[in-house]
Amino acid sequence: MNTHEYIENNKQKFLDELLDLLRIPSVSADSKFKGDVRKTAEFVKNSLEKAGVDKAEICETAGHPIVYGEKIVDKDLPTVLVYGHYDVQPADPYELWDSPPFEPVIKNEKIYARGACDDKGQMYMHVKAFETMMATGSLTCNVKFMIEGEEEVGSDNLGIFVKENRQKLAADIILISDTSMIANDTPSLTVGLRGLSYLQVEVTGPNRDLHSGVYGGAVANPINVLCEMITSLKDENDHITIPGFYDKVAELSAEERKALNDAPFDLDGYKRDLDINDIKGEKGYTTIERTGIRPTLDVNGIWGGYIGEGAKTVLPSKAYAKISMRLVPDQSSKEITELFSKHFSAIAPKSVKVKVTPHHGGEPAVTPTDSPAYAAASAAFEEAFGKTPIPTRDGGSIPIVSLFKKELGLDTVLMGFGLDSDAIHSPNEHYGLFNYFKGIETITLFYKHFAKAK
Ligand code: BES
Ligand code: MN
Ligand code: MN
Repeated sequence: MNTHEYIENNKQKFLDELLDLLRIPSVSADSKFKGDVRKTAEFVKNSLEKAGVDKAEICETAGHPIVYGEKIVDKDLPTVLVYGHYDVQPADPYELWDSPPFEPVIKNEKIYARGACDDKGQMYMHVKAFETMMATGSLTCNVKFMIEGEEEVGSDNLGIFVKENRQKLAADIILISDTSMIANDTPSLTVGLRGLSYLQVEVTGPNRDLHSGVYGGAVANPINVLCEMITSLKDENDHITIPGFYDKVAELSAEERKALNDAPFDLDGYKRDLDINDIKGEKGYTTIERTGIRPTLDVNGIWGGYIGEGAKTVLPSKAYAKISMRLVPDQSSKEITELFSKHFSAIAPKSVKVKVTPHHGGEPAVTPTDSPAYAAASAAFEEAFGKTPIPTRDGGSIPIVSLFKKELGLDTVLMGFGLDSDAIHSPNEHYGLFNYFKGIETITLFYKHFAKAK
């Protein structure tokens, strides 16, 4: 039996197993789900064993465990290190889901569940591709799996694990499916990811909540001040005003920008999908550029004062916001966090005090397009989809990609099969059945071409 036939014959089994995986609520951010996160790690370990690894293990960390597994066919063959994550984002707000987030359903040829695409569905394709190659005797590379449970909370312990296990993780290439492609009929390969600086700010006005009539107009309202401060962080061209913010931003050449913008992009479809009448972003750049090669700053949450039922006349003592900045080469997460903190304190009026607390960050990454691994991935897509994949820069972040380069000296192939419309991190996250099965097939083809290219 060849790989194609094996996948065709096992579609129902492959799907049922993924649905079982999706039923376990592995929310890494919420300690309430700690036991479920571990159960998910065990599920992944068992599935690797059943698929045919030599050994699989649960590696303890200070946080959620990492699952490691390997199949060494022959020391002289190239080794592929597969990275993925089995943890998921919180499913809140639950009431906006059409069906419960941890009770997967299939509708319109799509699997609906938290993690269906990010990243359980995409990660599990690798386990099933491996099973397929084992069962059909067609595995042409050594394989190592490193599947973590803390990607959605910043991968703090993965960095430590990588540093402590350089030998164990030795490989020729890292392979990840945790990004998106342009469309099912327009395959693409991700060659860049943005970095991230994430912080929380706290603005304090008076030492206690005040009557907004007795004091209003005479004492700084920290919510008003916070809004003014946030507004001032961008100018009328949506250019970020933090001094030094753009100093390290790598400018692309005119040819590189043209190549990037040659990728198909349907602005009307984009607006229709999001129900917006217009887009908004940095002047002088296209939407592809705004999310791919330009840094940005966004408020992720803002709160303070009275938000209960009815009206309470109050001039609050405190206001808060969570602010993220997406970074591009060669910005550094640490430097940008420092620049932000300094600037935010500098622009605060004397009437308030501000506190800035950094959260996790991550570095941007670009991956080579002139390597044997890229060529193998490109050939795999071409064989599976009948089209050469277009290199694209994604706006999201996978901080460990730059860490792999730094600590292991390894490049990554970002072979994602999700779509931007899959609603990852959102209610009604889904993943196409086409993408799941096509992904499994494309992955097996990557191994075939990579073994030949090396
Ligand atoms: N898989 C995503 C990143 C992603 C999504 C890359 C779509 C490209 C296209 C990943 O799970 C994620 O959500 N990363 C976080 C960063 C992390 C430090 C919390 C992100 O991008 O917000
Ligand atoms: Mn992910
Ligand atoms: Mn994610």
